Amino acid sequence: MTEEVPAFNIIEVHALTKVFNHEIRAVDGVTFNVGKGEILGFLGPNGAGKTTTLNMLSTLLKPTSGNATVNGHRIDEEPDEVRRSVGYVFQDPTLDIELTGRENLDFHGRLYHLNRTLRRQRIEEMLDIVQLQERADDLVKTYSGGMKRRLEIARGLLHHPEVLFLDEPTLGLDPQTRRSIWEHIHYLNQEKEVTIILTTHYTEEADYLCGRILIIDFGKIVALDTPQALKAQLKGDVVSLTFESAAMIPRIHPLLEKKNWIRRINAVSNTTNQSSIGNMMHTNQPTAGSPGIRNDPHRTKSATSTVKQTNMTNHPPTAKQLNLLVDDGGHRIPNIVKLADEAAVVLESVELHKPTLDDVFISATGRNLRDQRGSFMDMIRRHRIMRQARGRPTPG
Ligand SMILES: Nc1ncnc2c1ncn2[C@@H]1O[C@H](COP(=O)(O)OP(=O)(O)OP(=O)(O)O)[C@@H](O)[C@H]1O
Ligand SMILES: [Mg+2]
Repeated sequence: MTEEVPAFNIIEVHALTKVFNHEIRAVDGVTFNVGKGEILGFLGPNGAGKTTTLNMLSTLLKPTSGNATVNGHRIDEEPDEVRRSVGYVFQDPTLDIELTGRENLDFHGRLYHLNRTLRRQRIEEMLDIVQLQERADDLVKTYSGGMKRRLEIARGLLHHPEVLFLDEPTLGLDPQTRRSIWEHIHYLNQEKEVTIILTTHYTEEADYLCGRILIIDFGKIVALDTPQALKAQLKGDVVSLTFESAAMIPRIHPLLEKKNWIRRINAVSNTTNQSSIGNMMHTNQPTAGSPGIRNDPHRTKSATSTVKQTNMTNHPPTAKQLNLLVDDGGHRIPNIVKLADEAAVVLESVELHKPTLDDVFISATGRNLRDQRGSFMDMIRRHRIMRQARGRPTPG
């Protein structure tokens, strides 16, 4: 949103790495800074290393190597000072639903050794910020999902941290509630001057809220810049072609591949409600190399093999759609329709749009974030949130 030059770096991270069980490089040498007053978004698919990074920065996990300072304190040497500087809203709900909202906050205040008077004062202040005063004395199990998330944000702020970590703040919430949480986050940043790192796999959320976005994949930073700059690096337009059937794609693909004004072709499957771009099929220019998006020579084997899925046999069998990155897309549409005629394929629709962060993510990683949204872990988390909303005990 609004961009201001930060006064100083409140977080500095150098080559931070976490390896689990000697084999899973969950976070693989990440280096970045966060300016005071920034909202930095970690955008990445399931398992990218977002939560692990936050856990190290909040001292809940010890890094395997590398280091970081938070609010001037080293995470390895001054964990107590770091913890006092940080508020953390965890990815998975951690409220006690058998207590009231106020009791949950009070309990947290005691953990931070706030005295009775200060606790009362802060609780009122936080309830006011997240607009939960009227429901403060109701049991949390009667709250909606959005109210619970707001209460968790209030709890994370109770000790007046300089920095707030929000791990998937709107996962599982409906679009309207998501918007309202966005407004709260924006308010905290703008009016209360809280520096925020939030993780998300919703590109719209990152685009709307974050001054800069760090794209993380397989534990590595693959891009870091403002949303505008990231999108501007993908010069051209995206033309989406939907065909009558998936079988038509192999017929038109060789013709499209020959055109040098088409810079990239992505197969898109529509097996779920949300369309998902599948494997990259072909590119006429390197995916990386432009500022902010880099080829990483240390990328893990699995990441490389995913990015290099460039031939037709790898395209999702259900794909009925191709997304083309095209120079001057508007003028090229007649040429594309002509190619469809030559290939004797039936086009159901042709759409033109400017590159979005979804397109940026594909460019940086060769995969689509949207594929990850309906993951098994997300399903479990949503299920948990819904069960909590109904006040039933959650398994596990
Ligand atoms: N305690 C652990 N032991 C072993 N492996 C772990 C542990 N915690 C995380 N991992 C692994 O580390 C990788 C990164 O996990 P992490 O939770 O940081 O990803 P994430 O980006 O937050 O994903 P999501 O979007 O699903 O929340 C994954 O492969 C995960 O399975
Ligand atoms: Mg996570």
